Amino acid sequence: MKEMKKGLEGVVALDTKISYIDGIQGILKYRGINIEDLADLSYDAVSYLLITGKMPDEAELSEYSRMLVANRGINGKLIEVLKHFEFGVEALDGLRTAISCTAHFDEENNQHTPEANKNKAIKLVAEFPTIVAALHRASYGDEPIKPMDNLSHGANFLYMLSGKIPTDLEAEAMEKDLILSAEHELNPSTFSLRIASSTLSDMYSAVICGLCTLKGPLHGGARKGVMDMLDEIGSIENARDYALGKLERKEKIMGFGHRVYKTLDPRARIYKDVARRLAEENGDTSWFDMAEELEHILYHEFVEIKGKPIYPNVDFYSAVVYKYLDIPAELATSIFAMGRVSGWIAHCMEQYSDNRVIRPRAHTV
Ligand SMILES: CC(C)(COP(=O)(O)OP(=O)(O)OC[C@H]1O[C@@H](n2cnc3c(N)ncnc32)[C@H](O)[C@@H]1OP(=O)(O)O)[C@@H](O)C(=O)NCCC(=O)NCCS
Repeated sequence: MKEMKKGLEGVVALDTKISYIDGIQGILKYRGINIEDLADLSYDAVSYLLITGKMPDEAELSEYSRMLVANRGINGKLIEVLKHFEFGVEALDGLRTAISCTAHFDEENNQHTPEANKNKAIKLVAEFPTIVAALHRASYGDEPIKPMDNLSHGANFLYMLSGKIPTDLEAEAMEKDLILSAEHELNPSTFSLRIASSTLSDMYSAVICGLCTLKGPLHGGARKGVMDMLDEIGSIENARDYALGKLERKEKIMGFGHRVYKTLDPRARIYKDVARRLAEENGDTSWFDMAEELEHILYHEFVEIKGKPIYPNVDFYSAVVYKYLDIPAELATSIFAMGRVSGWIAHCMEQYSDNRVIRPRAHTV
């Protein structure tokens, strides 16, 4: 048996047309287009691009958006189920169960035709924000807020969460967050979804695999970890002691480091800019200043201790953005999933289109 690398580091497991990462130069492309160019589009356009492989023209985008809006509503039976969930610290547990229920209510669940898969894709992308917002409100005993048709995917989510129409900058921040979270090659959740898809399991089941894997603090759960960490640090004066204490105890600092990027993650740069603008609009830059201070401290400490810097990853400044959007930390991973669902669906379809079951070997020791 060939030598294996722990954590499958550097192992190439499959071909994909969906995204491309150059971890040395800090480049990320979806379907051949740089993330910097995609970040200014709408989430609907990027979702269409990921799922179909083609940038939509005006008519295609308008039809796709119309279908998403038409499918934003959720089944009344699901709303009843949500009210019975016990909520702890992690809304993702509720989301995972809710997607399972959604599959039960979809008569096409176990149909594998391209048409059925297309319908499931639209429903999943459209319903995720409504489910996350409804789950959150149900946990406080509040009724869900009906989606508003004339708001963008991201702005409508913020509206369904709080009942307030977001400012233009808040709406832009939410759209960008969903776009930047939408896809990232063979990250752990996407890999688990591809394995499920390769057994020809249905799209809902594959997405649930993705959700379960995203939850962990070393993957999507890090975003909540960063929000909790910022609360724990509390003020910029405490950042140095916090960072040095963590390093001394050899504990991981959430939102830093990456398996693939050896330079700044290009998404982190865009998030940082959005976080700065939100801080300025908010008139209170303290969360942003604290985060930037932590970034500087860790960069220099890593150079000193390990001879190379460490950089913030996608979860670091996205957490600062969530702070300014007044998003509760327990929703962070679920909102990450709201964006990522388009990438997951694209990978599920790509796997179906040229399938061989994914079944590696283990080295018995
Ligand atoms: C992302 C992550 C899981 C990548 O893991 P990995 O590729 O297995 O890298 P390793 O954990 O082996 O880290 C390599 C070295 O950097 C250190 N390191 C990496 N990330 C670190 C962090 N966030 N805080 C402190 N030290 C870190 C490790 O301790 C290790 O040091 P060593 O060589 O002295 O043992 C890891 O960086 C991490 O746990 N980050 C925090 C969680 C997070 O933000 N996850 C979101 C990922 S997008």
